[in-house]
Amino acid sequence: MSESNKAPQVTIIGGGMITGVQLLPTIYHLQREGLLGDIHVCALAAAPLAQLRKDAALARGFPGRGFTAHPGGAKVNQRRPFPSLYKEVLAAAPKGSIAVVAVPDHLHYPVIKACLRNDLHVCAVKPLVLKHEQAQEIAEEALDRGLLVGVDYHKRFDHRSLMARKAYRDGRLGQFRLGQAHLHEKWHYRDSNFQNWCTCQHSDMFTYVGCHYVDLVAFITGLKPVAVSVYGIADKYPNGREGFLWTDARVIWENGAALSVANSLGYPSAAAGANSQGMTLWCQGEKDAALVFHSDQYRGVKHSYTAAGGEPGDTAYAEPNPDYYQILDQGGPGLVPAGYGHRSVEFILNACRKVGAAGALKDRRKLIRQYDRDGILATPANSSYNELVVEAGRKSILAGGREVVIQYGKNAGVRFREW
Ligand SMILES: NC(=O)c1ccc[n+]([C@@H]2O[C@H](COP(=O)([O-])OP(=O)(O)OC[C@H]3O[C@@H](n4cnc5c(N)ncnc54)[C@H](O)[C@@H]3O)[C@@H](O)[C@H]2O)c1
Repeated sequence: MSESNKAPQVTIIGGGMITGVQLLPTIYHLQREGLLGDIHVCALAAAPLAQLRKDAALARGFPGRGFTAHPGGAKVNQRRPFPSLYKEVLAAAPKGSIAVVAVPDHLHYPVIKACLRNDLHVCAVKPLVLKHEQAQEIAEEALDRGLLVGVDYHKRFDHRSLMARKAYRDGRLGQFRLGQAHLHEKWHYRDSNFQNWCTCQHSDMFTYVGCHYVDLVAFITGLKPVAVSVYGIADKYPNGREGFLWTDARVIWENGAALSVANSLGYPSAAAGANSQGMTLWCQGEKDAALVFHSDQYRGVKHSYTAAGGEPGDTAYAEPNPDYYQILDQGGPGLVPAGYGHRSVEFILNACRKVGAAGALKDRRKLIRQYDRDGILATPANSSYNELVVEAGRKSILAGGREVVIQYGKNAGVRFREW
């Protein structure tokens, strides 16, 4: 942001599913509110950007809004890849403005590094990166330059998570002992662009979505994960590539508690609801047990439409989630985003704006450290246990589920448990 009174430009790198359903609607809304400036979106090729442009839900919710596309221009071959274009796009963004990183998991690191090199605050989708030392490097470089990096672990902004965190930290839920969480995405994800990148070599279902519940347990309890084992079943995508599309993880915590997390692309496309997800924590009080039970899929809403919608996985009988992300009529032109997916991105972008507006480097650093300490916003400094879990999980899954232990402190890292 070159002039302090000007709303900062937002440069989104990645124009896929999450950009269309969660990031762009919030960014359009904040732009409409005068809080954000111009919007640029860079994808690997022009095709996904053309799709975002003609997205009916975005057009209805945010009439007249748009973005500058990279690659752009009517003549560009829609499928031609431009794998390094993001570097030019980030270099052209005003210093101190905001970048949003929404590329496949294994590309987060080089893209975030390029953001920092160009003095941009960053809102990154989860997982921040796949290696702990990369998270540390990002934390140090960002603080050095007075830039905020926030990670969109949006379940943190679900009111039920904030309620559980408050009750746990007030001592009302005792000590976490055992937990079970699951997040199964719909089968039809196999037909999407996922099959091109979420392969055994790069990621797996635990890395992709299991991290949400690991982060949530840490967010609620304040405990750190200390050991991970992940058993994965490799399955073929329609394009013949293999991915660990079914995973079962066990995460041990510093107080000896155990959380099991099941993840897959195995929730039936024909089933109601966008996915199947939830979490139970069994806890130990002084005189009785304590319990946290979150049904994160079925939230009390049943609709039976006259016909299924046109998107993959749409069903005539549906159990829509009113809490994650909705774009609703609240009067005025267009529609207004609501839900924890919106609140999370809004919180991060506003935090970037606040750090940007803090002015002098020392004041920006002070504010960044405050966000690190508060622990509501996931930052590289306060949530890099997630990278250790991802690293441990990848090591474990590639070794058939062997247990990997996590070491914290100066020589933080992961290694197979020795017996
Ligand atoms: N629940 C969640 O928090 C959640 C949900 C979905 C996705 N995500 C995360 O969002 C990220 C993207 O997921 P998605 O579902 O949108 O994937 P996607 O495959 O639909 O989209 C990926 C996008 O990245 C772009 N891209 C790839 N390489 C690029 C490059 N070199 N330069 C510029 N753009 C490039 C592609 O063109 C595409 O638009 C992943 O890290 C994923 O884990 C998070």
